[in-house]
Amino acid sequence: MTIREIATTPFDDQKPGTSGLRKKVTRFQESGYLENFVQAIFDVRPDLVGGTLVIGGDGRYFNLAAIQIILRMAAANGAARALVGQNGLLSTPAVSHLIRKFETRGGIVLSASHNPGGPDGDFGIKFNTPNGGPAPESVTDAIHKRTQSIQKYRTIECADIDLQTIGRQKIGEMTVEVIDPVADYADLMAELFDFDAIRNLIGGGTFRLCFDAMHAITGPYATEILVNRLGAPESAVINATPLPDFGGGHPDPNLTHAHEAVELTTGEDGADFAAASDGDGDRNMILGRNFFVTPSDSLAVMAANAHLIRGYQDGISGVARSMPTSAAADRVAQQLGIEAFETPTGWKFFGNLLDAGRITLCGEESFGTGSNHVREKDGLWAVLFWLNLLAVRKQSVAQIVTEHWATFGRNYYTRHDYEGVDAGAATELMNHLRSSLPHLPGTHDIAWADDFAYEDPVDGSRTEQQGIRIGFEDGSRIVYRLSGTGTVGATLRVYLEAFEADTGKQNLETQTRMQPLIELADTLAGIRERTGRDAPDVIT
Ligand code: G1P
Ligand code: ZN
Repeated sequence: MTIREIATTPFDDQKPGTSGLRKKVTRFQESGYLENFVQAIFDVRPDLVGGTLVIGGDGRYFNLAAIQIILRMAAANGAARALVGQNGLLSTPAVSHLIRKFETRGGIVLSASHNPGGPDGDFGIKFNTPNGGPAPESVTDAIHKRTQSIQKYRTIECADIDLQTIGRQKIGEMTVEVIDPVADYADLMAELFDFDAIRNLIGGGTFRLCFDAMHAITGPYATEILVNRLGAPESAVINATPLPDFGGGHPDPNLTHAHEAVELTTGEDGADFAAASDGDGDRNMILGRNFFVTPSDSLAVMAANAHLIRGYQDGISGVARSMPTSAAADRVAQQLGIEAFETPTGWKFFGNLLDAGRITLCGEESFGTGSNHVREKDGLWAVLFWLNLLAVRKQSVAQIVTEHWATFGRNYYTRHDYEGVDAGAATELMNHLRSSLPHLPGTHDIAWADDFAYEDPVDGSRTEQQGIRIGFEDGSRIVYRLSGTGTVGATLRVYLEAFEADTGKQNLETQTRMQPLIELADTLAGIRERTGRDAPDVIT
C-alpha cells in the first residue's frame, strides 16, 4: 500500500468551539475539510507516531465514512494501532475510558453531541489527550493554527476496513482492532456501583424505570447494563437503536426534547424513575415521579451522598461546576469542608483539577455530570449513581431532593436559550452588557457584576470573556453568554438563579418564582429589542 500526500488548501472556519469542531455535515463532506483537520491533529501531536489511538463516534450520519478516512490517515501518519468501536460506535465517556484503560496516546471522537444529525444535520470531531479528556485550549489552539497553513495531508489507498466484525485487521503497517464498544465501559460501571443493590431495586417488580436513549449512542450501553446486567425489562430502554439521524429527533435530554421520559413519569401512576441521554452519551436528565432534578441540583445531591456509593465511599476531594451552573454544589462543599471550583463552560476545564486530584465530582447545568472515573461527562454513570442512591436510601427521587433542599437551601434555577439569533445582534448585546458592567452595582439591588475570567489553579493558564455575571444582594444571579457549540447564527444563553433557604417557599413553580429576575434580565440586556424575540426557544 502506498502512502500518498495530497495537496490541500486551508479552510478559514476550523477553530474548535466549546467541544471540538462542529459544522454542518455538508461542510465536513467538502473535499479536504475533514482531512485538513485530522492532518492538523497528527501534525501537532507527533507522539501519535508509533502509538495507539481510540476512534469512535455516536453513529450519526457521516460517522462511518469519517472513520474510514481517519483510519487511512492514521496509518499514513505512522500510528501503530487504532482501537475502533464495532460499527464505528463509541460513546464519548467510553472513548475516555478506553484511552485511560489502554494508556493510548489519545482518541478521536466523532460527534456533534446533542445537535441533530442526518444529511442536513451537524457533525463534529474532537481530539482527546492521553488523560482521556478533551484537549485543553493550548492543544486546540495549536490544531487550529496548523489548519490555517496546511498544504498537504497524508493518506493511503486501500479498501474500506470491515467495521462490523470484531477482531484485528491491517492497513499498511497499522493494526486496526475492532472492539466491543460496550464491554469495558460496563465493567467499569460494575466496579463503581453496587449492581446487586440496584438489581434488587429494579428487579423487585414494583419499581418502574425508563431510560430514553433517543435513538442515539446509549441504546446498546443501556441495554447491556440496565437490562442484561441489572435485570430491568427490555421495555425499560426506549428508542434503543442508534440511527444516523436519531429518528429525526433532537437527541438532547431536556424537558423539551426528551418529552417521552417526562410523560412516562407524569401522573399518579407515573414511573418511579426516568432518564435520558444525548447523541454521544455524555449528558443525562434525571426524573422522578412528577419530579425533574435540575442538573445543578443533581451535582449537589451527588456530592452530599457520594459516601454512600461504593466508588466514592472514602469521600470526595473537591467538587467543580461550570460558572453558569448554580451554586448548590458549593453549599455542599462548604459543609463537607472540601474545595469548590467555578470553571468556564466546557468539560475541558475540569481535566486539570481531576488529574491533580483536587476534585472527584464535577458538573454543568447543561445536563452534564461526571467524576474522576473518566475525563468526560458521563450520562449512564449519572443514571447508575442515582439508581444506586435510590437503592441505598430507599426513598423516592422527590424525597431525596426535597430533603437536600431542607438541609442546604434551594437554588432555584432556569436557563433560557434564544437560538439562531443574528450573530451581529448577539455580539452587540454582549458588548452592551460588557460596557455597562461598571455602572450596574447599586442599581436594581445588584451587588457586583463582571465578565468571568478563570485562572487554572493547576497550570496557571488564563481564560477570559467567559460570560457576563450579575450578582444581587440576595444571592440571586443572572449570567449571559453566547454558545460555543451552535452551527447557525448565534445562540444567546441566559442563566438565572435564586436562593431560597425557607422550606416553606421551596416548592414554587420555577418560572413563576423566577419571573422578576427573568424580566430584569431582559431590561438589563435588551433581549427582546435586540434579538426581535418575544420568548426563548428552549427553557431548561
Ligand atoms: C454547551 C453547554 C456546555 C457543554 C457543551 C458541550 O456549550 O452549554 O455546558 O459543555 O455544550 O456539551 P455552549 O453551546 O453553551 O457553548
Ligand atoms: Zn454530548
